[in-house]
Amino acid sequence: MIPVILSGGSGTRLWPLSRAGYPKQFLGLTEAQTLFQMTVARLTGLDGDRPVRPMVVCNEGHRFIVAEQLREKGLQAHAIVLEPAARNTAPAIAAAAVTAMADGQDPLLLVLAADHVIPDTAAFHDSVRAGVPAAEAGKLVTFGIVPTAPETGYGYIAVPSRLDAAAPVAPVAVQAFVEKPDLQTAQGYLEGGRHLWNSGMFLFKASAYLQELERFAPAIAAAARAAVQDGKKDLDFVRLDADAFARSPEDSIDYAVMEKTDKAVVVPLRAGWSDVGAWNAVWQVSGKDAQGNAFRGDVVAHEVRNSHVHAEHRLVSVLGLQDVVVVETADAVLVASKSQVQDVKKIVDKLKAQG
Ligand code: GDD
Ligand code: MG
Repeated sequence: MIPVILSGGSGTRLWPLSRAGYPKQFLGLTEAQTLFQMTVARLTGLDGDRPVRPMVVCNEGHRFIVAEQLREKGLQAHAIVLEPAARNTAPAIAAAAVTAMADGQDPLLLVLAADHVIPDTAAFHDSVRAGVPAAEAGKLVTFGIVPTAPETGYGYIAVPSRLDAAAPVAPVAVQAFVEKPDLQTAQGYLEGGRHLWNSGMFLFKASAYLQELERFAPAIAAAARAAVQDGKKDLDFVRLDADAFARSPEDSIDYAVMEKTDKAVVVPLRAGWSDVGAWNAVWQVSGKDAQGNAFRGDVVAHEVRNSHVHAEHRLVSVLGLQDVVVVETADAVLVASKSQVQDVKKIVDKLKAQG
C-alpha cells in the first residue's frame, strides 16, 4: 500500500498564517509538528513494521518544504510528484497512480489529504484495514464520517440504511455520492441520518482509479499519463511535464469520479476527524483552558472566553471578549468573530484585488 499525500491546497481560509508560499498543511497549527508531518506520522504501524514511504503530490514551489519536513521525521518518500500548476485532485491523483504503476506494479493507493486532524490513530488504522479487501477487489473505497452539522463544504455519501454505531467497521455500498450540496439539501441529509461526510480520503488500486477516470474523464487520464511519461525524474522528485499537465481539465476526484462511479463503497470512520478548514476548526481541535480558550504563543488575556488567539511575533493581549479569533503574524493581523471565519477568504480576495 502506498500512501499518497495530497499537499497542493492553498488553505486560504487560514490566512494570515497560511500563505501561498507556505500553506496550512506545512504549518504547526495545533502542535509542534505540522499537519503534513502529522499525516505522515499517523501512518506508522499501518502496514506492520514496514517503514512508511509516502508518495507526496505537491506544487513544484513547495518541493523543498516537503523534502525538509520528511527529513525532519527521518522519512524517505516513495516519490515526490511535482505539479507545475494545480489542476485539482483528479489530475493530482492520476499523476500519482501513473507514477505508482510505472514499474509494472499495481499497488493499493491510500489517498490522504495533508491537512486533516485525526485524533484516534487506532480507529483510523482499523477503518483503512477494513477497506483493504474491497480495494483489492477493484472497489473505490471512501471513508465516511457521521455528520454533526449541515456542512456545505463536504461531499455526502448516501448509504442504504442508518449505520449502527456499535457494529464492527466494514464497507457499506454507496447509493449516491453528492459533492458539496446546498444548505437545504445538507439539512435534509442530516435529519435523515442515512448520509455520511466524505472524508476526502480514498483507498483503491491504482489501476481501478485510472480505469474509472478513463471512463468518466478521459482527458484527465490522458494528460496525467503524458505528464508522467514526458516528465523528468530526478532523485525522489517526479517533475510532471508542464505542457502535458496544463492540458488536463481542472476537476476534483469527487466530481470527476466519485459522483459517477458505481464501484464506490464507504467504510465508516469514527476517529474524531476534522479537516481544519477554517480558524474555528483549529480552535475546535486545539487544547483549551477552563474558559474554552486556545492560546498559542505569547498571549495575555483577561475575561476572554471560547476564543482562539495565535501570536507569532509579538505579545498579544485580549480583554473582555468572547468567541473571537485573533491571529498575529509579522505583517498582518486578523481579528474576527469566530462565527464568521469561513469568510476569511473574502478578505484574501479583497487583498488580491488591491494587488
Ligand atoms: N497535489 C494537489 N494538487 N493537492 C491538491 C490539489 C491539487 O491541485 N487541490 C487540492 N489538493 C489537496 C488539498 O491540499 C487537500 O489536502 C485535499 O487535496 C482536498 O482538497 P480541498 O480543496 O481541501 O477539497 P475540499 O475540502 O473542497 O473537498 C474535499 O474534501 C472534503 C473533506 O475535507 C472533498 O473530497 C469533499 O468531498 C470532502 O468532504
Ligand atoms: Mg478541504
